[in-house]
Amino acid sequence: MTRRTRILGVGSFVPDRIVTNDDMTQWMDTSDEWIRSRSGIEERHWVEPDNTTTSDLGLEAANKAMAASGITAADLDMILFATLSPDHEFPGTACFLQEKLGCPGIPAIEVRQQCSGFVYGMAQADMFIRGGMAETVLLVGAEIHSKGMDISDAGRDVSVLFGDGAGAVVLQATDVDDPDTQPHIYSSHLHADGTYAKELWVEGPSMTYAPNRYSGDWLERGAHWPKMNGKTVFKHAVTRMPEVATEALDANGFTVDDVDLWIFHQANMRINYFAAKQLGIDDDEKVFNTIQRFGNTTAATIPIGLDEALKAGKLEPGMLVCIAAFGAGFTWASSLVRW
Ligand code: UT7
Repeated sequence: MTRRTRILGVGSFVPDRIVTNDDMTQWMDTSDEWIRSRSGIEERHWVEPDNTTTSDLGLEAANKAMAASGITAADLDMILFATLSPDHEFPGTACFLQEKLGCPGIPAIEVRQQCSGFVYGMAQADMFIRGGMAETVLLVGAEIHSKGMDISDAGRDVSVLFGDGAGAVVLQATDVDDPDTQPHIYSSHLHADGTYAKELWVEGPSMTYAPNRYSGDWLERGAHWPKMNGKTVFKHAVTRMPEVATEALDANGFTVDDVDLWIFHQANMRINYFAAKQLGIDDDEKVFNTIQRFGNTTAATIPIGLDEALKAGKLEPGMLVCIAAFGAGFTWASSLVRW
């Protein structure tokens, strides 16, 4: 028997407010046709312009994941929170969520790997559990993008793509005799290349500014808005996601045909189409996309995808699930799971 990690339960949450592509045209020069044809996005959910925080969304998803797992916050040994849109610069959003969950004392860790954050978090949770430091871990991916983007013409290449939302899983130690049938994480594979750190980033405010981080002209330049070199990100994503998915399959002696369900990061439908083609996936039904309805929710796309796949009856016990993500950093990662 080998000590492994399994996903016990999943939950997700998006705010009620739906913003369609047509709605976007009131703020910027864009069109439903442009957004749909370039990205596959039809609508996204945004929080109301109020004081809702990322940890508020995370709490909703966490409560659903814990309910689905039959546990309460008192059963948790650790919280991991993946986000690029934290409640505050510090402390980490994991601490704000912990306060809302009412489980003081356990470690609360922030994961800052953007679109790959949730998969990085899965790897960390798996290592903490397999190493014996934790039995039960809550992993949340949550974002509020709507309040952090430039929704004028100047920011239209970014702001049409991103949505708000949250997803969570509860991970727990499990003893595995037969990896082909028993639910567990086979392995996770993590990568980064900081050469491309500025291809998708938010520059300011910054500790590089002197004499303090609010010095200089960054606000006038709009350096506080996310900036993306879309074509470069696209080019790397379509190479790295298939590469890291293949790495996970090779590491465990599986082939593409063994995979029952593919959950890719949701940045662009075209990226996922190319990734599937590159991998030689011949059945579109095996690739589960949610970007049409939610846009890119960064660290939340993977758990939202898992939850939506469950609700749609596409994810069943015993399935082999390959998860892969790519995003800012650049970072990319995969995880192979027996569901
Ligand atoms: O999660 C990881 C992070 N993000 C990604 O993975 C995104 C990766 N990149 C992409 O998905 C794509 O590059 C985009 C969807 C961002 C852009 O698609 P594209 O086919 O690469 O478009 P483009 O950059 O070639 O832009 C074409 C035109 C430009 O106009 P000109 O210069 O040709 O006159 C843009 O100014 O489209 C213009 N444009 C828009 N037009 C209408 C840019 N944004 C918009 C917009 N509406 N929202």
